[in-house]
Amino acid sequence: MRLRFLYIAFICFFSQSFSQNYEAKVDSLMRLMTLQEKIGQTVMYSGHWDQTGPFVSTDNGKYIREGNMGAMLNAMSVKGTRDLQKIAVEETRLGIPLLFGYDVIHGHRTIFPINLGLSASWDLQMIEKSSRIAAEEASAEGIHWTFAPMIDVSRDPRWGRISEGAGEDVFLNNEIAKAYVKGFQGDDLSQPNTVLACAKHYVAYGAAQAGRDYHTTNMGEGELRNVYLPPFKAAIDAGVETFMSAFNELNGVPTSGNKFTLRDILKDEWNFKGLVVSDYTSINEMIQHGFAADSIDAARIGMNAGVDMDMMGHVYRLHLKKLVEENKVSEAFINDACKRILMAKFKLGLFDDPYRYSDEEREIKTAYQSEFLTEAREIAAASSVLLQNKNDALPLSKTSKTIAFIGPLVKDEYNIIGNWAAKGDRDGKAVSVFEGVSEYLKPKQILYAKGCDILKADTSGFEEAIRVSKQATEIVLVMGEDYHMSGEAASRTDLKIPGVQPELIKKIREANPNKKITLVIMNGRPLNLSEEVNLVDAILEVWFPGTMGGAATADLLFGEVNPSGKLTVTFPRNVGQVPIYYNMKNTGRPIPESNPKEDYKSNYIDIENTPLFAFGHGLSYTKFNYSDLKLSSNKLTFSNTIDAQVEVSNTGSKDGYEIVQLYIHDKVGSVTRPVKELKGFQKIYLKKGETKTVTFTVSVEDLKFYNSDMVYGVETGEFEIAIAPSSEFKFESSFTLIDQ
Ligand code: NOJ
Repeated sequence: MRLRFLYIAFICFFSQSFSQNYEAKVDSLMRLMTLQEKIGQTVMYSGHWDQTGPFVSTDNGKYIREGNMGAMLNAMSVKGTRDLQKIAVEETRLGIPLLFGYDVIHGHRTIFPINLGLSASWDLQMIEKSSRIAAEEASAEGIHWTFAPMIDVSRDPRWGRISEGAGEDVFLNNEIAKAYVKGFQGDDLSQPNTVLACAKHYVAYGAAQAGRDYHTTNMGEGELRNVYLPPFKAAIDAGVETFMSAFNELNGVPTSGNKFTLRDILKDEWNFKGLVVSDYTSINEMIQHGFAADSIDAARIGMNAGVDMDMMGHVYRLHLKKLVEENKVSEAFINDACKRILMAKFKLGLFDDPYRYSDEEREIKTAYQSEFLTEAREIAAASSVLLQNKNDALPLSKTSKTIAFIGPLVKDEYNIIGNWAAKGDRDGKAVSVFEGVSEYLKPKQILYAKGCDILKADTSGFEEAIRVSKQATEIVLVMGEDYHMSGEAASRTDLKIPGVQPELIKKIREANPNKKITLVIMNGRPLNLSEEVNLVDAILEVWFPGTMGGAATADLLFGEVNPSGKLTVTFPRNVGQVPIYYNMKNTGRPIPESNPKEDYKSNYIDIENTPLFAFGHGLSYTKFNYSDLKLSSNKLTFSNTIDAQVEVSNTGSKDGYEIVQLYIHDKVGSVTRPVKELKGFQKIYLKKGETKTVTFTVSVEDLKFYNSDMVYGVETGEFEIAIAPSSEFKFESSFTLIDQ
């Protein structure tokens, strides 16, 4: 014990003299540590809960006292974390504080739309704001570290985790990764309202074969470097402090035992100095992968590959010491891992005050602040996408005689906050669509029928729903997935709206052939809406919109807010088109425009190649017109830039936001390039009748890619360029990159 107090006195002195010199502090602390104490820092276990809240379980208490735990997940609340921290600080030899991590993914108490929805706002400030608020709320409850953002490029809607990311595009994922990191970590990690961010799941987890979670991934290094790695590098550029290795194998090597991706690329090539935590037991799972013989072997492979912390696997705690003694793991690796973990604790200021996240007053005051709820409402509205609006079915009129709201999600306050909703309340805090529309309509204007459940094959509610629909002037259906149908371990092979809901939609249309019908859809992935587009007039995609989701949906339905979100992921016509994404390659036999069905071309015999809704698509209640694309020059050199500009006019009758997108196509390369690639975007506000000139500056940096020798650079030649409202356009302009 004496040693601990001496050490703390030393650190305090040290903190005052050299407050930023963490490395020296870590080194001095590590000189006092035994090998097993260092290994103890690499161990993470889960907190335990009972009805009254988090408590110190016998096992956890024991591991902490023995110095065999450096971090915990799922431990929170000021009281719960203080009790655990007290053991670490007061009852261990060196008093090293614990790190508390939790999955704060799209909000902590105030829940924002699921991440796929957030990305559809294309609004980096809003995304940063959402993660700032999440950090405020989480840190007030003792949490130091969030396991977010998930920045896996994902192009397969069967994969349930597509809901957690920013969609299919690399550029957008890069920008969004940076926004999340900035929001979570703030400008100064030593402030107690910041949390460490974690770039996950490293790497290529989103490329799981057949969209089945945890499944194999296989790809060439070119695809890995051009598509799946960039968002992780972007997160590092934004200062992310931690990484999580993934569950999947990549080209035969599990990513939690992959020296190439972890040591060679992440730690050497990119010089990442933060800590790498495994995913939950992903080190152990190398046994099932057939890559490790047993748990001792798994510990050896994991540490040698560069995973610094073992989440829940028990293998580092149990085996690393012996592996070092047998020279199977270098002690230098343990020192390096321990150093990275201690650095994070220093940066958070936990050595200055291990209880700095344990402020009861802050805990009580922070959750669900009214300004957080206001932001959540605005962000949810900006994240929704108006997919279709035939006959101007939307916005609805507040003076409609009666509107029938039908469907299992009309009154829902449970699914609406989506998967991975941290400590978000599923019992009444969230605003349902019913509550939201009640702000706009008088009770006598609202008719309601649930109609059916999301999943049950029970049609007994149809009759009432049809009767109610017939009484109404207009109809709004609120339908979609159950929140458990997306997120982890929630892959689907069928992308249709689940259960008997599609049948009810048909019946309601049959009973109301001439009425305007709107479908508000809540879901965690692109769905196959091929039948619904013909049955309803308007489709409003609200994803799982979060705590204020119902209010935001009502704002959109009644035109109080003009929809502005655009898809960041392609909606297929059916599951057979998957994977389908806008930035694909061309093939040697692309379909001719004049005859898409031509034989021996790269097409399907039963369906078009085009998606139902393309990447970048999203309608507004006003109309935007793009004209007059101009390039400042049609020659780009290695040292100059060119400006591409377009006139965007609001030709409709409402003010609104438009997301203007820049696309480029490298026509000929030493390796083939995608048919188009997003290279920039701007979200602009145009009053009705207003025109703005939107300018993008293009440089060689925008044209770089990894070639077949894995060299990152540009190749001279012709590039097509367009500025467009979505990825559905034909290039009409080009420039040449010349070697000057
Ligand atoms: C497993 C998930 O894959 C990961 O995203 C999450 O952060 C961990 N569990 C911890 O809950």
